[in-house]
Amino acid sequence: MPNLQNKSIVITGAAGGIGAAIAKALAADGARILVADLSEEAANRVAGEITAAGGTAKAIAVDVRRRADVRAMIDAAVSAFGRLDVLFNNAGVAQTRPFLDITEDDWHFVTDVNAMGVLIGMQEAVKTFRAQGGGGKIINTASIAGKQGYEPLAHYSASKFAVVALTQAAARAFGKEGITANAFCPGVVATDMWKTIDKGFRDSGLTHKENEAFDGFAAGALLGRASRPDDLVGVARFLASSDSDFMTGQSLLVDGGMVLV
Ligand SMILES: NC(=O)c1ccc[n+]([C@@H]2O[C@H](COP(=O)([O-])OP(=O)(O)OC[C@H]3O[C@@H](n4cnc5c(N)ncnc54)[C@H](O)[C@@H]3O)[C@@H](O)[C@H]2O)c1
Repeated sequence: MPNLQNKSIVITGAAGGIGAAIAKALAADGARILVADLSEEAANRVAGEITAAGGTAKAIAVDVRRRADVRAMIDAAVSAFGRLDVLFNNAGVAQTRPFLDITEDDWHFVTDVNAMGVLIGMQEAVKTFRAQGGGGKIINTASIAGKQGYEPLAHYSASKFAVVALTQAAARAFGKEGITANAFCPGVVATDMWKTIDKGFRDSGLTHKENEAFDGFAAGALLGRASRPDDLVGVARFLASSDSDFMTGQSLLVDGGMVLV
């Protein structure tokens, strides 16, 4: 089992779905977790659950599009836990729109959170890693949509290709300082996000029944089922631990076998 004892880990978008599953699992491994999310109430709830289970966690409100929020988030981790070891840039939004219907506002809504938010998170984390004397791990949540463009999720796919590109560029920029940047790419995971995507398919007239889009996409997984948030815990634990120290710039597909590259 990788050793995460006392590691100081910040996870954005940790109030629900994949981020909450990772927060709870790594806290159970002994890491100290800052649960960061747009929803302060939900972040407090997750941090409370971790603390009640005997772990160490704090919660903070953050909008990953706002640099001042992100700076304050990282400073809060350093102040609470003494340093920053790992930043998970996991917060994200999705939206279903047929290709020709995507507006400039839609583009900004999705890419500001999913791509610019990741850029800001990486920049502010690197400043802190440098101030600590080097080393540190950045882990970004990309997607199968960061490997293939899906219609009608073109702008979402573009934002996730951006995450893969930012991961590679940061790996090249900061490798000599011992700072690693990796990503993982989930497939079709049963979270609130997929409820939004599924509803978008129905609202666009592309599907008619609830979960029709979800089930249709999930049917493409070689392992024969849709993903659950817990399916991403193993890769998150690996990437956060010293077991992945000699790996950087990678975007690992953990999708039950949907995209083979
Ligand atoms: N669910 C899937 O099938 C799937 C597949 C591939 C990738 N992903 C990615 O996984 C990540 C987590 O998604 P999820 O499925 O757990 O979704 P989710 O909707 O359950 O959780 C996303 C969290 O991000 C938070 N968030 C949204 N905008 C934010 C902002 N501006 N600042 C801070 N927090 C913000 C939300 O409040 C929410 O708690 C996302 O990056 C998503 O794109 C999800």
